[in-house]
This record gives sequence, C-alpha cells and structure tokens, in this order.
Amino acid sequence: MEKRAEKLIAGLEERLRFFSQIGIDFVSMSNSKDISFHSLEERVLKCQECELSQGRTNAVPGEGSLKTELMFVGEAPGRDEDIQGRPFVGRAGQLLTKIIGAMEFDRKDVYITNVVKCRPPDNRNPHKEEIETCKNYLLEQIDMIKPRAIVALGKVAADFFIHSSQGMTALRGNFHKFQDVQVMPTFHPSYLIRNEGNKSIKKMVWEDMKKVMAFLGKK
Ligand code: URA
Repeated sequence: MEKRAEKLIAGLEERLRFFSQIGIDFVSMSNSKDISFHSLEERVLKCQECELSQGRTNAVPGEGSLKTELMFVGEAPGRDEDIQGRPFVGRAGQLLTKIIGAMEFDRKDVYITNVVKCRPPDNRNPHKEEIETCKNYLLEQIDMIKPRAIVALGKVAADFFIHSSQGMTALRGNFHKFQDVQVMPTFHPSYLIRNEGNKSIKKMVWEDMKKVMAFLGKK
C-alpha cells in the first residue's frame, strides 16, 4: 500500500513539475484526476512486476470515460488487444461493444478494462499470482473512477470481486457488493461466441444487463 502511494505521488510530482516548467501553476481538481489516472496508465504500460510483461507487445491499461457510472471488467487482453494496446477490440470486444450499445451507452462513455493488464501466453487463464500482482492497478482504477456499477465479464472477473465457490450460472443475475460498488457478474462475450446457437445464454446476459440499466436509472 505504501509503495503504491509513493509511486502515485512520484508520478504526480513529475507531472506538476512539468506543468510548472511550462508556466502552468494551477491545476483544477478535475485535471488532477486525469493526471493521476494518466500516471497510473503509464505505470501499467511500463510494468514488469510479473512474467506476463516479458511476452507482451503492449500492456493494456483500459479505456473509456473516467466520469462514468459503469465499468466493464474482463479477464485479460487477448491477441488483438495485445497488438493494439486497447481492451476488447477483437471478436469478443465487438460483441461487447454491441451489448454496450444495446444498453444505450456509448463505448466511450463507460470504462472498459481487465483484471490482468498483459496477455497470458496462448490466452490461458491468468494465474493466481499474476492476478495478485496486478490487482492494485484495477483497485486504483475503481478507486479513481468510483463507478456505481461494475459488470464482471466471466468467471475470472467475477472471482476478483466475489469470494464464492459458486459457478457463473449461480452467481449471475444478482448484484454483489464490492466496497461501495454493485457488481453484476455475467457470462464473458467469448463464451457467448463459443455458444453462438444457444439463445438461453444470450437471454441471461441481456437480463443481467437490463438489471444494470434499471439500477443506473436507464428505463
Ligand atoms: N477478453 C478479455 O477478457 N479481455 C479483453 O480485453 C479481450 C478479450
């Protein structure tokens, strides 16, 4: 925790020094959030805290609005995400973008990220130690964005927020409280793609998303 705070302060100091060098001596609170977030992203981009950093093309901090009430959290970047340095841009990402649109949000107005910020080899699930090493980045993102709701996409993301031995079928469909945030676990878009003909999975995801919309006062 102390190490995290020290790094955060060092990043902020560096930014403030830069601002003062170019003649800006006043930074508003909203800018200061952007600056802290930017410094967090920079730390993710340079991170070498675990083995996954050795095999990556790009780390993928996440993207979207910092003022949003809604975050989507997946498992880890895949091949396309590793190449582009952006979350959910492959096939599963295109489906997620459609789901977000159906919820009457724009992709740029929510925040999208993953539990682990670097691609695991061959798209395997991230290991426990990798999740543990990466976890402060996601916790800081949540702390800064302060969403009202998080959609946890798939079991790895659900396990991050909910300590339960139950599978996704039992967990989904209900909110689970994590700190002050309501977390809705649902099936991962890749799972939907793998089970394309299965209408009942699609229906369950849509039911979960409707609950999120209702919670956020949409419809
Ligand atoms: N799957 C994930 O869990 N995250 C991504 O960013 C892409 C695919």
